[in-house]
Amino acid sequence: MKNITSTVKLLVTVLMLPICNQINAADLTIKVTKQYLNLPISQQQERKKMTFEVNGKEERSFVIRLANGAPEYWVFCDVTALKGKTIKISYEGDGSGLTKIYQADEINGQDVLYEEKNRPQFHFTTKRGWINDPNGMIFYEGEYHLFYQHNPYEREWENMSWGHAVSKDMIHWQELPTALFPDALGTMFSGSTVIDYQNTAGFNKGKTPAMVAAYTANTADKQTQCIAYSLDKGRTWTKYSRNPVIDSKAKWNSVDTRDPRIFWYKPGKHWVMVLNERDGHSIYTSDNLKDWTYQSHTTGFWECPDLFELPVDGDQSKRKWVMYGASNNYMIGSFDGKKFTPEAGKYYYVTGTIYAAQTFTNMPESDGRRIQIGWGRVNHPGMPFNGMMLLPTELKLKTTKEGVRLFSEPVKETEQLFTPVDKWSALSADEANKHLKPFADEGTLRIKAKIKLSHATSAGISLNGQKILDYDMNFNLVNGMFYSPEDLTSMELFADIYIDKTSIEVFIDGGAYSYSMQRKADEQNKEGFRFWGTNIDVKVLEVFSVKSIWK
Ligand code: FRU
Repeated sequence: MKNITSTVKLLVTVLMLPICNQINAADLTIKVTKQYLNLPISQQQERKKMTFEVNGKEERSFVIRLANGAPEYWVFCDVTALKGKTIKISYEGDGSGLTKIYQADEINGQDVLYEEKNRPQFHFTTKRGWINDPNGMIFYEGEYHLFYQHNPYEREWENMSWGHAVSKDMIHWQELPTALFPDALGTMFSGSTVIDYQNTAGFNKGKTPAMVAAYTANTADKQTQCIAYSLDKGRTWTKYSRNPVIDSKAKWNSVDTRDPRIFWYKPGKHWVMVLNERDGHSIYTSDNLKDWTYQSHTTGFWECPDLFELPVDGDQSKRKWVMYGASNNYMIGSFDGKKFTPEAGKYYYVTGTIYAAQTFTNMPESDGRRIQIGWGRVNHPGMPFNGMMLLPTELKLKTTKEGVRLFSEPVKETEQLFTPVDKWSALSADEANKHLKPFADEGTLRIKAKIKLSHATSAGISLNGQKILDYDMNFNLVNGMFYSPEDLTSMELFADIYIDKTSIEVFIDGGAYSYSMQRKADEQNKEGFRFWGTNIDVKVLEVFSVKSIWK
């Protein structure tokens, strides 16, 4: 039966080809009266250029796979700013889908938004399209800002723009319109933001300090560093008229110069930019965010720099600087405002789906936490969006048996999401499995477990056959990565496990090591949770239900 249906489908498709696949450029004119334009997408179509023209001038252009038959899903543009104006939309591909484009005050799919089958329930995802790196993470006037690499027009990487979301607690996010769009200098690659309290760049207006973003403008030929400013808390942006502010392709004989990470260096009273250039992170300094002077370079990092100072064991008189790249592998050292001097590393504290993590700047002094959010390279089968942000975690430097190391644990604000359901102690694996049976079908769950091994071999927990914890004490591996507990001879391991619809995050022994993975949807295996290994004890087992961040 299945075969017959697909043969019929194929025949219909072939017969319809000459009718549907007319490759003709076309255009459509719309007078904007509503908030959104809804656009039909088909992954089967090729990407072609679409242009919006207002009063004969290009307003934006991007590439899109405009559906010519039934749409696979819909994306949208917020056109509030164009209300009352007439847009001419032209498309260089098969324009038969143009007539399906419609305006409305709701996005297509609004009625089930955030309730879709594979929508993560406690991790940030975008309504529609693709996300990768977090950008411009900053706290300002009671709001956490999360900008991010975004393709608003497809669930794959393209058209790099800065998406934008805000939150009062880093947990509940409100997605705002796209903040930075591609321009004549390139697409908008990763970067960071600061608040220019002293008006060093001259962008401030009256008492309103500018939020200044530094980002990379990307073209196939080169990557340059640019700035833009916002006087309305990141909602709208003006690009600096004399961009780019750094063009270092010739110096490095490389197109790879990107991802400016800027911050105010208090002791030196100047701005610092950490920029990934070819084979490592460079330091530039500036008095005004516009003119930058090259200072130094630390080799051994790729993409997405971060650099910050942390107290060791909470002792403010003992401070160290941490530098990392996109993989989060880090060095510990010192920094004098111009040069980072590595002292130890490289080490890892987190692995898995995480990439290109950034930390919030401009945290209130009374708070003082260093909080990180990483891109989770996780997909959501069948959904019109892709990628997600991992849980915000607080980073701390602690002295361990190996020396000073980074620890990472979910921020205290995440606790509001979890309600204790049950708690047991001193269980055998079989007893623990019985207790977890009723939770096998939960879309979301948090489990805390302390296991004790009876043999120095592998043991752990699986969910429908997927090993979510795999402690190999012979090779000293936790899910494939070297791990040696603080107490050398300990046979125990503590895991705090966060299970969302499509992802799993695990924090080991108070954040000494953490990892994340794609949650596999195995339709065949329904065994639920299973503790495995030779005669292990489950010393503590706790289960929490999870509130959705979208309700
Ligand atoms: C890292 C990265 C950055 C770049 C961005 C482009 O994931 O490659 O270096 O700015 O993504 O989307």
